Amino acid sequence: MSCVTELGYVRFGVSDLEEWKTFAREILALEVCEEPGDARSASLRMDYWHHRILLEESAADDLIGAGLRVAGAEEFKAMQATLTDNEIPFEVGDQALCAKRGVLEVLLLKDPAGNPLEIFHGPRIDTHLPFYPGRRMHGRYLTDAGGVGHMILSHQGLEPIYDFYKLLGMRGGIEYKVPMGPDATLDILFMHCNERDHTFAFGVPPAEGKHINHLMLEVDNLDDVFTTYELAKQSKYPIAIELGKHANDHMFSFYLVGPSGWQIEIGYGGKPATHQSEYFVRDTYGHDFQRGGASE
Ligand SMILES: [Fe+2]
Repeated sequence: MSCVTELGYVRFGVSDLEEWKTFAREILALEVCEEPGDARSASLRMDYWHHRILLEESAADDLIGAGLRVAGAEEFKAMQATLTDNEIPFEVGDQALCAKRGVLEVLLLKDPAGNPLEIFHGPRIDTHLPFYPGRRMHGRYLTDAGGVGHMILSHQGLEPIYDFYKLLGMRGGIEYKVPMGPDATLDILFMHCNERDHTFAFGVPPAEGKHINHLMLEVDNLDDVFTTYELAKQSKYPIAIELGKHANDHMFSFYLVGPSGWQIEIGYGGKPATHQSEYFVRDTYGHDFQRGGASE
């Protein structure tokens, strides 16, 4: 069985590319890269990879592709066999698309909720171009074997979504049962594929009509959480969820609302995935909601 190994890159359709570039550079400290002659897209770097985030001008203001990595050509072939055996439709990208994504091979598909996925191997790594943050940072973004970070995505039933991601080689389960009334709980499903506690989670609804609720990026220095928090407070971008610590991944974080209306979580101190199930009913502390909508 072929398994995805990390969330390698993410693509977002953004209605205001210029605003996004400024936001990425000045608030998030990401490196903004542009191709000469292409005014309708930009890429963002956070480590040695050619890009980790691709921004494309579009009215979507949403996730348009989550790039899940497999180890190599053999695993890529095996993944296609798994998808075919399970009657999951997919499209293999041609060389032009691979070049555009900066990967050796890529295929496109959707999960049962319609979230757009891309399974690839062989990302372009630019070791000759060390990450150059968009503003001063105390430390660096933490990617390594954990990939870009994690996202909460839309779902239409936790069971089919669990079965689908299990097929891609991910593991996980319900990690939160948040009391919502005398007989009701909000159940949140977390799936992992490496040492990051979770790569995808499902259960907290995204904003109306969107695939994504939030993208989490992790820094390796607590001071960078507070620096970003302070910059966010001084900006027009609202804090959606205040500073706090999650019970499941131990992430100390806050959430701000970015230029596309969905949230970005900046976190520090995430603990590795536990490979046994456990669940929580609340966070360790903090994470007070400022503008409705829960997030993990
Ligand atoms: Fe999160």
